[in-house]
Amino acid sequence: MSATQANPSTDPAAIEQQVNALLAKMTLAEKIGQMSQRNASSEHELDVVVKSLRAGRIGSVINQVDVDVINELQRIAVEESRLGIPLLVGRDVIHGFKTVMPIPLGQAATFNPDVVRDGATVAAREAATAGINWTFAPMIDISRDARWGRIAESLGEDPYLASMLGAAMVSGFQGTDLAATGTIAACAKHFAGYGESESGRDYATTNIPENELRNVHLRPFKAAVDAGVTTLMASFSDLDGIPATANEFLMRQVLRDEWQFDGFVVSDWDSVRQLQIHGLTANDRESAYEAATAGVDMEMHGIAYDNHLAQLVDNGDISIETIDTAVANILRAKFRLGLFDNPYTDPGKLPAIANDDALDTARAAALQSMVLLKNDKHVLPLSVDQLDSVALIGPLGDAPYEQLGTWIFDGDPELSVTPMHAIHDLVGRDVDVRYVRAMETSRSRSYDGFDEAVAVARESDVVVLFLGEESILSGEAHSRADISLPGAQAELVRRIRSTGKPVAAVIMAGRPLTLTNIIDEVDAILFAWHPGTMGGPAIADLLFGIESPSGKLPATFPRMVGQIPIYYNHKHTGKPPSPDSVVLIDEIDAHAPQLSTGMTSYHLDAGYTPLYPFGHGLSYAIFEYTNIGVSQAEIGLGDTVRISADVTNNGDIAADEVVQLYVRDLVGNVTRPVRELKGFKRVRVEPGQTIHVDFVLRPEDLAFYGRNMQLITEPGEFHAWIGGSSEAELKTDFRIVDSS
Ligand code: NOJ
Repeated sequence: MSATQANPSTDPAAIEQQVNALLAKMTLAEKIGQMSQRNASSEHELDVVVKSLRAGRIGSVINQVDVDVINELQRIAVEESRLGIPLLVGRDVIHGFKTVMPIPLGQAATFNPDVVRDGATVAAREAATAGINWTFAPMIDISRDARWGRIAESLGEDPYLASMLGAAMVSGFQGTDLAATGTIAACAKHFAGYGESESGRDYATTNIPENELRNVHLRPFKAAVDAGVTTLMASFSDLDGIPATANEFLMRQVLRDEWQFDGFVVSDWDSVRQLQIHGLTANDRESAYEAATAGVDMEMHGIAYDNHLAQLVDNGDISIETIDTAVANILRAKFRLGLFDNPYTDPGKLPAIANDDALDTARAAALQSMVLLKNDKHVLPLSVDQLDSVALIGPLGDAPYEQLGTWIFDGDPELSVTPMHAIHDLVGRDVDVRYVRAMETSRSRSYDGFDEAVAVARESDVVVLFLGEESILSGEAHSRADISLPGAQAELVRRIRSTGKPVAAVIMAGRPLTLTNIIDEVDAILFAWHPGTMGGPAIADLLFGIESPSGKLPATFPRMVGQIPIYYNHKHTGKPPSPDSVVLIDEIDAHAPQLSTGMTSYHLDAGYTPLYPFGHGLSYAIFEYTNIGVSQAEIGLGDTVRISADVTNNGDIAADEVVQLYVRDLVGNVTRPVRELKGFKRVRVEPGQTIHVDFVLRPEDLAFYGRNMQLITEPGEFHAWIGGSSEAELKTDFRIVDSS
């Protein structure tokens, strides 16, 4: 192609021309076909798909991963249907395809957009070898409730972090050229508010006031749209009485009118027909009407569109313009993907599955995702020189499938390197490594394996426990009301503790857990999430000090379930608690008088602080923050301000630290959070080294949706903190003045 010639796959005007030309040739049935996606996993379903495809009645398939089958489906679409429109081939490629990265919540703990982007790049390339051209990720639902099983798939509780990492994931999947070999379309989901499901029960109702929706839940979706995400998925959930799948405010006003999104919206699995079950509609016909008019362009695995849209158009209930707009949105994506130029997949043109680069990427992600929650008496890192033997005990020490985490349909457990194997490989020549599973699964209630575990612990210098949740205990429809360690694990911890040996726990889980009942029974906790294919080597490196832990919590750890929702960027309230104001249940005098003064907002049995705050994560290095500074104490509306600080490594090991910037806007026309993350940087600091880290805050970084739902930056006072967690104490102030 000459330099002056526009690439038809990327030139917007050329694409629009082609979309319109094609649209002009389509019958109503063919248009509705493009709006319909079918499941194609079983033989029977494939038969149906093939027939519909020939008739031009299908625009996309889901859940087929055999490249030969997919190439054949594309051939039928291109050669045997009247207009030869290629297929979108969708699949949940959530945190890896064959090579599995840490669960998204673990990836969020890296606070590293590069790691997240690289993981998605690997996933896209591997998925593309199967003919997949569309993934249903990233999931960027703000998740403040650890009971919700899908917190595992999320990027945590913070809108800024989820925005930065969600955008990075989009760019990893999509690359810079969607039509290139090995890039696939992304889908930001679930639009919107799904993470607020009542009591963390999956699919439950959500009630989110518009101001909260805009300031918190919609922000990552705006960032994904700005990053060029091709598609969005409507949520299953009922938002303030209007299920997201029928929510015109979300899909028309916000997404199209305000954000100018020109990709397409897919429903969730059969969520169009579920509008009837919600009680919003009386039948499938009404459901198709509600979803299509609200802005769902494609129905995922359902038949409401196929069965009813034509008649709705013929009757004049739905305008042909509504249909044309939806179809144009879908065709635009197909052109951008370059499918009209080449719909076929040649796996030979793509890198091999699980190649060294993929495994290194998975290992780096796992390494940076793990969070050292506690480390008393410097039990970790373990020193090979000072150990003769180490006991590895627990159900998750050698569980190749479980370490992969939730929703890994294509993940290959055969590729998993477990901690037991990795520790053997790393230190097995110098240290006697003994493994006892002790429990069949994380949920086992039997104590049968405990005697052997205790005996091995007694004979060893140190014990590493491998505890947590199996992968099936988190993810879709796998919410828990009690989020402590399941089964007999707490008893196992107590028995091992009674041996008097130093005990470190490695916990693999799909969510923050309440660890209060074991926290004092172990000396150290390394929280490993579900770390994926290369979790074992990452754990071994961290336990033995080859690298220092550097992950930071992307979600608050409650002390007990009753504190949920507990998150760092909450509002101040009119009666904020302070250490002096808290009188816990055991401290209340008998017959204490009931007073109406001096009362503050906390639980009598939990206080108000979490077990571990957002952003927390220890290191083997000793970091000190000093010299916080602000470029100007006073800036005009529209100006930028720089906040900086020094971070020094006073320890004797080089380590990464995630430096975090938090801001509080003291007065707003709507109340503002006590702190908000506004910047983070992962820096490598050598022993004795001091690094100066600075952050630039632009006016838009300080903007929020006010009373009239307008995005505004207000003049006034701001506090800023820089440090290693959301409880950073090093503080400065600045002020914005309106000099107009
Ligand atoms: C339902 C889930 O909510 C959604 O996230 C997923 O992409 C679809 N099923 C397809 O598996």
